[in-house]
Order: sequence, then structure tokens, then C-alpha cells
Amino acid sequence: MSRTFYIETFGCQMNELDSEKIAGSLLHEGMEPVSDPAKADIIILNTCSIREKAVQKVYARLGEVKRHKTRRGGDLVVGVVGCMAQLEGEKILERAPFVNIIAGPQKGHVMPELVARALETRRPAIDLRMDDDPEPLETRHVLRVSAWRAGVTISEGCNRHCAFCVVPLTRGPQKDRPSSNIISEAARLVDQGYLEIVLLGQTVNSYRDPSPPGLRFAGLLRKLAEIPGLKRVRFTSPHPNDFSDDLLDVMVSCSQVCNQIHLPVQSGSTRVLLAMRRGYTRERYLETIRKIQSATRAIAISTDIIVGFPGETETDFEDTLRLLDEVQYDSVFSFKYSPRPNTAALNLPGEVPEEEKGKRLRRLQEHQNLIQYNKNAAYVAQVLEVLVEDRARANFSLAGRAANNKVVNFNGPESLIGKFAEIQITGFSANSLRGVRVQ
Ligand code: SAH
Ligand code: F3S
Repeated sequence: MSRTFYIETFGCQMNELDSEKIAGSLLHEGMEPVSDPAKADIIILNTCSIREKAVQKVYARLGEVKRHKTRRGGDLVVGVVGCMAQLEGEKILERAPFVNIIAGPQKGHVMPELVARALETRRPAIDLRMDDDPEPLETRHVLRVSAWRAGVTISEGCNRHCAFCVVPLTRGPQKDRPSSNIISEAARLVDQGYLEIVLLGQTVNSYRDPSPPGLRFAGLLRKLAEIPGLKRVRFTSPHPNDFSDDLLDVMVSCSQVCNQIHLPVQSGSTRVLLAMRRGYTRERYLETIRKIQSATRAIAISTDIIVGFPGETETDFEDTLRLLDEVQYDSVFSFKYSPRPNTAALNLPGEVPEEEKGKRLRRLQEHQNLIQYNKNAAYVAQVLEVLVEDRARANFSLAGRAANNKVVNFNGPESLIGKFAEIQITGFSANSLRGVRVQ
């Protein structure tokens, strides 16, 4: 009988894709995916380390996994992989000595080998090397969760060093994939029936083609949009400094490129941005936003914000609230600053008390909720093309996303899942729209 595996993913879209790569490699070696950890011979936690909470979540989950281990003994292989594993390394064994595999991100291609090694030697198999092996960028074996939306890696790692961020330490410097490989993977996916391609990279628009066409991100996007049959292409996340006029031009002129951009700002205070080493001022960021907002195609804009960065004063925080007013974002992901090991921000003075961080986060979210509520009102009566995803949570049978990334809830048959539907908007909340199907 073949071995079974269960993978649990924490964190970002890139991690979701990494899990699909791990699953693909294990499947290729004859192992079988299961959806119940109690039935698995291999349990893999693909982890995140972006904030301390993410790390704690993995340790808590490991406490639960231990029960399976106690029941199954040496038969069960437990792997902790991804960013938290890269960061914590063998320290994981101090708190969870039953773990059999520790490996960093993008180790899908060596996972079968690590499983075999752990079983053979009965000792933890550890792979924390960060080298230039191009293999991880190539998605040779991918077991995809969705049959209509597919993530495609275009680059890995990050060359920037934002003072708060641990990603350059867990995923290493930026490595780019040759454009021809990206384009042929996307074309293959379209052939297989995929409707939406999501290009993934830590600073996705800093992409530099390492192969002869030497494409920049906008050029790559333009090539991808030309693939016959490709309905939608998105990307995440761009860095504001590498947002070129050429990129805006592609977004405006290629209808396949979704009219949505996630442009993380982090703070509305230039003083804080400087301390964060983001490389732009409030004014320069706003210039980019104005360009996007004055384009002839309406483009939805979302962002990430950190509150309570060391030294952030009440005035700095209010600058961020004013920025929200000025930009009128379609959505905002906001976080309390979390100190991360070996990052520059650790040495900064002016720690903001946890309670104050919590207060600022709540104020920010309330502020933004009102903006979103008012913005979403404008969609009533419009018809949006929605890619139907799955059942909506509350009162509707289905949910989907419009090209601008708005979530739309509606009622319809399950057979619509994975297809496009035209929905006329009849209502809204701060976070989603609702509507009825128009035939
Ligand atoms: N360039 C990446 C950023 C990944 S981190 C991307 O593809 O989006 C995602 C977001 O987490 C960041 O934009 C930032 O807002 C937040 N974040 C990163 N480090 C953090 C920290 N130490 N504390 C709180 N939030 C953090
Ligand atoms: Fe992190 Fe800044 Fe790179 S947020 S991923 S160091 S652009």
C-alpha cells in the first residue's frame, strides 16, 4: 500500500503554491494525498514566520499533531517546512522532539528524499540550505487545489530589507525564473482549462528576466496576456518603487490583466517609512496612486499597513489615517508590528506598548470599514463578471471574485463553480457585494 500524506498550509499565497509543489512531488513518487491527518502516514506543516503569532500557531498545532505521533509512533513522519522552519531550524526539536523533517521554503522537489531519509535513518532529516538550485523555481510536479485558478512563481526571495521583515532571511535574495518557462507553464495551464493565473513573487514587479529576451515585469505581463484563451491574470505583491508607467499601461490596455493592484504602503508617515527602510516617502507613494487613479480603466487598490512600528507617534498614526482618506482603498490588510529575529527594527527605540498597538489597529480598521462601505455602495446596479469559487459562508450558496477582486455573494447552482457568471449587484457590506445572476 502506498503511503498517504496530509499537508497543512499557514500564511501567504506563495506558501499555498509551495504546498501544491510538495504535494505534486510526493504524488509523483506514488504517495497519496488525504484530507484527514488521522489517516496520514506523513503530516507536513508548511509554515509562516511573518509575525510572532504565526510561529506560535505552528507550535500550538504541533501540540495537536503530537497526539497522532503518540498513537502511531515511528510509523508517522512529521515535517515542519517553510519560513518558520527556516527561521527556527533545529530549535523546533527542543520544543517538539518528535518532528522528523525540518526544511525551508521551496523544498517541494526534495521532499520525497527527506521523507525517505527520515524513515531510513530514524533521525530528523534537516535541509536548511539556501542555494542557487534553480529547481525550486520550476514547478515540475504540482498538485493543484483549484481547477480554475493557478498560482505561478515568477520569482522567489527579496532583495529589499524592510526593517521589520523577516522574508529576506527565510526566502533569501531574489531569484527570477526565465520568462520562457513562465510563459510555457501559463500556456499549459490555459490548455488544461485554467481561467485565472496569479503571478507570485515577493516583490513581483521587480522581476528581471535572467534569459535573453530580458523582459521586465510589464513586458512579461504583456506576453502572458497574449496567450490565447487566457481569461484573467493577476499578480501579487508589487513594490511601490518598481511600479512603472509601462506596468500601468499594460494594466490599462490588456483586458486580461485584472483591474486590481495590491500596493503595500505600510505607513502614511514619511518619518516612519524612512525608519522602515521602505525606500519611498508618503508623497512619492501618493504620486503613484494618483497615476493609477487617473488611468482610463478603473483599477481597485488595496494595501498592507503596520501599526505600532517602533517610534510611531500618535501624529504618525494619524498621518496613516489621513492617507486612507486620501487614497480611498478598496481593502486594507492591517497588522500590529511584531518584532522579528535578526531584523533591523529590533534595534530601534520607541517601542509602542501592545495595548496601544491594539487600539491603533482597531481605530484603523473602523476608519477603513467606513471608507469601504461607502465605496461598495457605488457598485449597486452594476453587472460584474465573477469567477465563481465556492459556497459563500452566510446566506448565499455561492461566492466569486470580480476582476477587481471584490468578493460577490449570490445564489445559484453548484455547477457554476469554476465558471464565470454575470452578477447584478443588489447590496453590499464593507467587505463584500451581493447580487443576482443575470442570464
Ligand atoms: N512583499 C511581500 C510582503 C510579505 S509580508 C508580499 O508579497 O506581500 C506581507 C505583509 O506583512 C507586509 O506587507 C507587512 O504589512 C506585513 N508584515 C511584514 N513583517 C511584519 C512584522 N514584523 N510585523 C507586522 N507585520 C508585518
Ligand atoms: Fe519583506 Fe519588504 Fe521584501 S516587506 S518581502 S523585505 S519588500
